[in-house]
Amino acid sequence: MSGLKFTLKDDDIKNVREICVSFNHDSEKLLSILSKVQKLFGFLPPEVQNLVAAELKIQISEVLDTINFYSFLTAKAKARHPISICTGNACLARGADNILEAFKNELNLDVDKLSEDGEFSLIYSRCIGACGLAPVVMIDEEMYGNLTDKDIPSILRKYNTTD
Ligand code: FES
Repeated sequence: MSGLKFTLKDDDIKNVREICVSFNHDSEKLLSILSKVQKLFGFLPPEVQNLVAAELKIQISEVLDTINFYSFLTAKAKARHPISICTGNACLARGADNILEAFKNELNLDVDKLSEDGEFSLIYSRCIGACGLAPVVMIDEEMYGNLTDKDIPSILRKYNTTD
């Protein structure tokens, strides 16, 4: 994988602006604003930093200083939709390997990598306590259970925002 190309979509810009508006563009609230904005993307890429700085009419350096100071803020790329493949015993026994392969093939992506468009990453997870639904995968906050490899394309289509 080469470098992540993060693209701000129209909806992203609108959402960031709405957050700034909700804080009355108050630069004193920069930390709260960045915290909320990070929830939209999982991280704070330069494009987003610039937008926040422009909205609040502050220097980009102020935004960067805040990101660097607070450990819960990060400019390091994360996927918009992290895909956690459970590799607990029950899920492994019921085909987690096949599910992982299906995601890898569909996304042309390896574990612990980020897709070129920043939409997806594949990560292993331990048992997530839903063994009765094995094999199980989490995407964002949503759980998918009783999966077969045939389910993967239709699941991924739900997250395809390029249409
Ligand atoms: S082993 Fe996968 S949910 Fe428990």
